[in-house]
Amino acid sequence: MPDHRTATSLAALLLALTAACNATAQTATIRQYQYAPRADGAAYEVVLKQVPRPSPKMHQVLVRIHATSINGGYDVDMRDRKPGGPADLTGGIPFADGAGEVVELGAGVTRFRVGDRVVGIFMPRWIDGDRTGDGMQSSRGGNAGGMLSEFVVADEQGLVSFPKHLTYEEAATLPTSGVTAWVGLFKYGQVKAEEYVLLEGTGGVSTFGLVFAVAAGAKPIITSSSDAKLERARKLGAFGTVNYRTDPDWEKAVRTLTGGAGVKQVLEVGGRGTLEKALAALAFDGHVAMIGTLSGFAEQIPTGPLFQAGAHLTTVYVGSRADFEAMNAFIAKHKVHPVIDRVLEFEQAPAAFELMAHGDYMGKIVVRVR
Ligand SMILES: NC(=O)c1ccc[n+]([C@@H]2O[C@H](COP(=O)([O-])OP(=O)(O)OC[C@H]3O[C@@H](n4cnc5c(N)ncnc54)[C@H](OP(=O)(O)O)[C@@H]3O)[C@@H](O)[C@H]2O)c1
Repeated sequence: MPDHRTATSLAALLLALTAACNATAQTATIRQYQYAPRADGAAYEVVLKQVPRPSPKMHQVLVRIHATSINGGYDVDMRDRKPGGPADLTGGIPFADGAGEVVELGAGVTRFRVGDRVVGIFMPRWIDGDRTGDGMQSSRGGNAGGMLSEFVVADEQGLVSFPKHLTYEEAATLPTSGVTAWVGLFKYGQVKAEEYVLLEGTGGVSTFGLVFAVAAGAKPIITSSSDAKLERARKLGAFGTVNYRTDPDWEKAVRTLTGGAGVKQVLEVGGRGTLEKALAALAFDGHVAMIGTLSGFAEQIPTGPLFQAGAHLTTVYVGSRADFEAMNAFIAKHKVHPVIDRVLEFEQAPAAFELMAHGDYMGKIVVRVR
């Protein structure tokens, strides 16, 4: 028969063992959001799962994700697709964009060390040079490369370090909107100081365009459906602002702000209904970076206005790792900060989709992971 003291120490031992088992269980599994078909089968919902903690293989690293961010035209479209077919997203991890800390190295890793702060590239296999089919197929989001997870494994080639002055939340906004705006303005547009730059609306790409243009000493003119957002844009350094809702002839107002010369650069994110207006606001030999289709695809190419303006048109599809690194150098040099509208907690991630769908934000919506 055990005496009283033996029974007490046995109970303590049992408690300690239970605590150790719980701790092991916590580290053995992680929380991760995944797409799952909605009950009505019309679209997906995002569900929180407990899954085994992944381990890095050869040339991979394990990243503890600290923050992710959502892209309306990408992530919301993905969630709203009809499940099924060869491109079914069931089990895929939402969000292409995320930043975190390297916590474990697979064999043969040379680019990173434990503790490094890293951010994922939108297309991990587009390293440099021209885009390739293989690079396009490596796009993150809705697959194993998604970022809305406490931990992810990633090939070391598909990550970059980010500028020291940025937080994880800020870094998580860079991969899609940041790189796209930077490629449109600087790789293809080669923006110069004092040039007029037109930015349509105050979403992720356009607000990156705004802070980049300000940093380059250019004169950004930005449109919005909201006077409050335009007021905020002025505080961020906008040279001119136009409300496209209360002023349907906004292209004329933009040209007037340039003294009649027109803008030299446009980040064209609207598509149908905005391309012709952007061309009407363009200076001779100006550059239009074709980026988005917020109001649908412009079905017709307006060749008349194109010739008249002598416009240079390029199409942008995010960018390579080399583009990302060039943008990071610019951000570090000019101490640029992304525009973040709000930061949600991990448990609130599904609400990010609704916030994006309703448009009541300016810049980026971030989800903090831990
Ligand atoms: N090609 C690429 O590599 C690439 C990369 C990223 C994004 N995209 C595309 O580019 C577009 C913008 O992306 P984003 O992430 O910046 O979008 P976002 O954050 O969802 O932008 C939404 C904002 O755009 C503005 N907007 C909506 N319709 C507009 C219109 N007709 N004219 C002017 N502004 C309008 C609104 O601003 P206000 O509230 O101020 O009115 C709205 O709040 C999307 O179509 C996206 O799919 C393409």
